[in-house]
Amino acid sequence: MFWTNAGLMKQARDGGYAVGAFNTNNLEITQAIFRAAKEEKSPIILAISPSAMKYAGARNLVAMARIASEETGVPVSVHLDHGTELEHLVIAIQAGFSSIMYDGSKYPYEENVRLTQEAVKLGHAAGVSVEGELGRLVGTEEEITVSEREASMTNPDQALDYVERTGIDALAVSIGNAHGWYKGKPLLDFERLETIKNNVGDKTLLVLHGASGVPDEDIRMAVSLGITKINIDTETRDAFKRGVAEFIQENPDVIDPRKILKPAIEEMYKVVSGKIRLFGSSGKASESIAYVTGGVA
Ligand code: G3H
Ligand code: 13P
Ligand code: ZN
Repeated sequence: MFWTNAGLMKQARDGGYAVGAFNTNNLEITQAIFRAAKEEKSPIILAISPSAMKYAGARNLVAMARIASEETGVPVSVHLDHGTELEHLVIAIQAGFSSIMYDGSKYPYEENVRLTQEAVKLGHAAGVSVEGELGRLVGTEEEITVSEREASMTNPDQALDYVERTGIDALAVSIGNAHGWYKGKPLLDFERLETIKNNVGDKTLLVLHGASGVPDEDIRMAVSLGITKINIDTETRDAFKRGVAEFIQENPDVIDPRKILKPAIEEMYKVVSGKIRLFGSSGKASESIAYVTGGVA
């Protein structure tokens, strides 16, 4: 049985920590995430993008998560990351995901509200929790001016309106965070985050995407201001690549995929363990198990 994101994140809000949402595309990434979570006794969110569903098969990824959670006892939510079409949401729900994200951030505000309302209807009818996004995450490659950067960020007043009109369980904020590696030091607008949190209160839960490369002290600050889900992909991908590349360089004649991928699992495991400790969710798995009796949805 999976948890919903909302279930894990409410627990995190009450406990003052955040749950890591780690992207997976295959068996090896999934194994690394579960190994780290088990050793750290932490709940986790497995994030699966539409392109990951296409690559590995949504049902394959769910089956792996189910077996891993049964074998490790790790409380896990299987979550659709950045569903940009309502069709992605339907595929994920049918495959057995326990949580979905609808990302309508590329649309004008009213269109985002309307489509997110549809997403919430779909998700709640299926008993899964729903994350929405307001404000656009600017790509690390995009050259933008200061005022464009401002305009791309979540408007705190609109955030309350968006949450109230859509009924989303969680809100992904744009406060200067970006996907991929940051060019310089990330400049997160914590004042804006604080205002968003003050405005939405406990009406929704807050999510920080694009957390790879964000300094530890900024992560701690974000958690202290109410972020309860933190998304990591780039750092895990980089660890995967490093593990494979170093192994092949040192062992050019080895062709056994299991031997080639083992160091990649090891490197990803180290990244995930470190993030779990940083987010403060180590040792929180047993609390989650206690909550399960209260219902998953
Ligand atoms: O934010 C998106 C995640 O990093 C997933 O990326 O669409 O290449 O699977 P992806
Ligand atoms: P990074 O790849 O920058 O860690 O972002 C991950 C993310 O936000 C997935 O939705
Ligand atoms: Zn993201």
